Amino acid sequence: MSTPRLSQYLRGIHCFACETSHDPRTLLGVCQRCGMPLRVDYDLGAIRLKLADVAARTPTLWRYRELLPLEEGDEVSLGEGFTPLLAVEENVWVKDESRNPTGSFKARGMAMAVSMAKHLGAKKFSAPSAGNAAGALAAYGARAGLPVVVAMPDDTPKPFFDECALYGATIHRVQGTIADAGKFLREHGPKDAYDMSTLREPYRIEGKKTMAYELVEQLGGAVPDVVLYPTGGGTGLIGMWKAFDEMAALGWIPRDKRPRFVSVQAAGCAPVAKAFHEGAERTEAWVNAQTRAYGLRVPSPLGGFICLRALHDTHGTAIAIEEAEMQRATVDLASRSGIDVCPEGGAAWAALAQLRQSGFVRPADRVIVFNTGTGLKYR
Ligand SMILES: Cc1ncc(COP(=O)(O)O)c(C=O)c1O
Repeated sequence: MSTPRLSQYLRGIHCFACETSHDPRTLLGVCQRCGMPLRVDYDLGAIRLKLADVAARTPTLWRYRELLPLEEGDEVSLGEGFTPLLAVEENVWVKDESRNPTGSFKARGMAMAVSMAKHLGAKKFSAPSAGNAAGALAAYGARAGLPVVVAMPDDTPKPFFDECALYGATIHRVQGTIADAGKFLREHGPKDAYDMSTLREPYRIEGKKTMAYELVEQLGGAVPDVVLYPTGGGTGLIGMWKAFDEMAALGWIPRDKRPRFVSVQAAGCAPVAKAFHEGAERTEAWVNAQTRAYGLRVPSPLGGFICLRALHDTHGTAIAIEEAEMQRATVDLASRSGIDVCPEGGAAWAALAQLRQSGFVRPADRVIVFNTGTGLKYR
């Protein structure tokens, strides 16, 4: 087989934990040495792109082409990214990810991961999911013309299953959480499928990091002070943390300016928040995980230690929101803004109120609240 064409700026792939180098021309999973997630690195010094240069480009995440692993023409796209940044109060904006294909930010990661995997020769995909990732993978698999197998917890709301069926995916219902769905696929899933699980392949992060590029572009080059992000597996948070470092290296933002990241979790499943407040470097498996914010029901995130690094590195924090408060805040934000808020976005909105009270968010701070998906599938 001929060598696959990759971005001229792609410098290599390294492990987030042990820095072992991997060959980007091959289909990769986790680190071959220690089993931890892999990071995609670019030759940022060679990239001459300025933020102003992208203004005239297509309003999708592919406008940041130089910071992505693929050359133009090799992408599997449904027009993902460049979602609106909506002002909801003075100094507070909601980044509305419900406006992506399949209604969530998961489209960004799956667009990138499916594009790369297809380009590198994958012929079938599989993934466990809390719901949104399965829908996105099913859609991008259909777009790529390749079969998809997904596994979701049995109590996931029906619209998530219907969506996967619509796109022709094979669906497994599994008792338990996404962790059990993952275990099911590893034991009983198709052996010829490429595993698209969160942080078990390197490229979903690359799609999701574009949320941070968009924030800076949409704020006219400014860096927000605080970013509140609903955190389950952690790819959104990790991707944006990486992107701010990349933007600093590119000279798009000051070297020492970062938003303080807030990892927002549900009180019924908060391994990152617990570890952060205990001063631990790693998360521990959460027992009896329960929340209606299904995307946050991730009891043992593989990248928990990277989320913790991102929070410490940016002088951020983590917070766990009770179910009733999440529900109240979901309705509050939707009814006052017209935004299609999901429970995870409601949790982030509730977190803002609590962090204002605690003084972590100050009146003059420019704050971004992420609404990571549509609320319409939670019925
Ligand atoms: C709506 C929504 N928000 C947030 C998350 C958590 O995302 P991540 O796994 O990137 O932390 C998910 C994941 O399923 C989700 O579906």
